[in-house]
Amino acid sequence: MPRNGIRTPKPRAAGLPLDRVHRGDCLALLARMPAASVHLAFADPPFNIGYDYDSYDDRLAADDYLVWSKRWMGEVARVLAADGTFWLAIGDEYAAELKVIATRELGFTCRSWVVWYYTFGVNCRQKFSRSHAHLFHFVKDPASFTFNTDAIRVPSARELVYGDKRANPTGRLPDDTWILRPQDLPEGFAADGDTWYFPRVCGTFKERSGWHGCQMPEQLLGRIIRASSHAGDVVLDPFGGSGTTLAVAKKLDRRFVGFELSEQYAKRIEQRLGAIRTGDALDGAAEPLKSVPATKDGRRLKRGPSATRRRTKAR
Ligand SMILES: C[S@@+](CC[C@H](N)C(=O)[O-])C[C@H]1O[C@@H](n2cnc3c(N)ncnc32)[C@H](O)[C@@H]1O
Repeated sequence: MPRNGIRTPKPRAAGLPLDRVHRGDCLALLARMPAASVHLAFADPPFNIGYDYDSYDDRLAADDYLVWSKRWMGEVARVLAADGTFWLAIGDEYAAELKVIATRELGFTCRSWVVWYYTFGVNCRQKFSRSHAHLFHFVKDPASFTFNTDAIRVPSARELVYGDKRANPTGRLPDDTWILRPQDLPEGFAADGDTWYFPRVCGTFKERSGWHGCQMPEQLLGRIIRASSHAGDVVLDPFGGSGTTLAVAKKLDRRFVGFELSEQYAKRIEQRLGAIRTGDALDGAAEPLKSVPATKDGRRLKRGPSATRRRTKAR
């Protein structure tokens, strides 16, 4: 049964200080954490596609990548509480294999295979432009896990599209529906799907930190953290990146612990965490269909010499 609102015992004190990022290799740092000390883990690892990180070479032989992935996911399973949750963000290249490892070999149960559809994906010339990533919602125990339904309800199509008075005023849970972009099918697009409609954090957005190409939107992490943890729970991110998970955990009053291999990124994460307070609003538009993310120049991108487009490498 989902532990809706029912707190499990507090996790044992973590072996590493909480509420900060630790610089180093996640395998070494995970090994220093006691078993069952984390409620929610969110991981957005390198996708092994040759992405250009500061200090990590994203080009392992496929078999090595799978062995390494099994090792760190196994450590995540160990440090998770018995009713803990593990969200994994991954690209097409290894999504299927990592799901099999997580479920068949490490014992996780997959509650949802969420497709994150994002606008502003990188334009491809010889294939369909990629506009999605996979978000696996794994739990350790399918009979006991956190799922805060009231924290993640969305307006229903009945309410949004049809103005139907029978619409439940509290909305509905996001579901698993294939969607098209609003500009492709304005009358058929639904915001409430488990194909989640959040724009990538692109170069022009005010939210963009500007120093990490894989920054995830705060609103995306907001949904995950609100759904899968309670205030005061411990949230872990083994691949800190720009620090989005940790920043959102702090804003939402969770304890947190993050790891990051790059010294440069880890320092920037510390600065990001130092600049925010618990209770601060999340960056980005909560309802992308009703509002758009602000650009640094205001709502609209200004044309002119300063509007040179940044090219972001596909990941
Ligand atoms: C895809 S990015 C994470 C982006 C993050 N979700 C965000 O929103 O900014 C992956 C990060 O993992 C880091 N990394 C790679 N190998 C690592 C390791 N063994 N231990 C810790 N961090 C690692 C990389 O330096 C990179 O910053």
